[in-house]
Amino acid sequence: WGSLGHITTAMVATNFVQPETASYFKVLLRNDTEHYLAGVATWADSIRYTKWGRFTAAFHFIDAHDSPPTYCGVEFDRDCKENGCVVSALQNYTSQLLDGELVAWRRMQAAKFVIHFLGDIHQPLHTEDVAKGGNGIHVLWNGNEVNLHHVWDSSIAEQMLGGIGRKPYPAALEWSANLTAEIQTGGKYAAQRESWTKGMMLDDPIQTSMGWATESNSFVCSAVLPEGPSAIVGQELALGEYFQRAAEVTELQVARGGYRLAKWLDLIAERINAQA
Ligand code: ADE
Ligand code: ZN
Ligand code: ZN
Repeated sequence: WGSLGHITTAMVATNFVQPETASYFKVLLRNDTEHYLAGVATWADSIRYTKWGRFTAAFHFIDAHDSPPTYCGVEFDRDCKENGCVVSALQNYTSQLLDGELVAWRRMQAAKFVIHFLGDIHQPLHTEDVAKGGNGIHVLWNGNEVNLHHVWDSSIAEQMLGGIGRKPYPAALEWSANLTAEIQTGGKYAAQRESWTKGMMLDDPIQTSMGWATESNSFVCSAVLPEGPSAIVGQELALGEYFQRAAEVTELQVARGGYRLAKWLDLIAERINAQA
């Protein structure tokens, strides 16, 4: 996701974590404000293109080698390549976060990666190989030429919120409040929220995050490329049915990402507090 998606994911998570989890991560991230998660949610993108951070470039996605729209599906052994992927990164940084032998700054860095990558795995095109996750597919967005990856990272969410200008924070606050209400009792996601965290296993981060990746990747066939990669080239996507469907998927995926991030951080904090 772009900044709006990541910050919103973190804010939703903040609304669902246990009090003990909040205390633990406020100390680890050295931020006692309510934005202790949101404040680090985009850090991994800020280092991705630096000399030091280059080794993390592949950690933002898993390139499923499938054939949308006829076949979607992710396979860890086939799709997680030698430089790593979002699934192996979530495993690695979750285990670093749990490692009491590691110095605090490394566990802090691991937390920042987990918070970011758990968001990214919910962006359907971060689980897709076609044209490098849609980066090589040119489409139109309100008449402007953009790539499909950027549409799904940012344009859809920003248009849903009526445009955000240069500032993601106010829009993320508004969006996260709406999503939180929809997840809570009485909201449209209340009946499904338990299914979102069912089967989450701190002791098997690969299987857990492969479940998220497979679910995310299924939207590549149903909503991102419903008629295949060549049919979408040059199409206007900001209007009509495509946008409606994309907005629904984006909303659902950011809600799921935020709710799951809360639960994942709860499991981590519970384990650490039990060890202490
Ligand atoms: N580069 C290669 N594949 C990618 C993907 N799925 N998402 C973002 N960047 C990529
Ligand atoms: Zn992206
Ligand atoms: Zn990212």
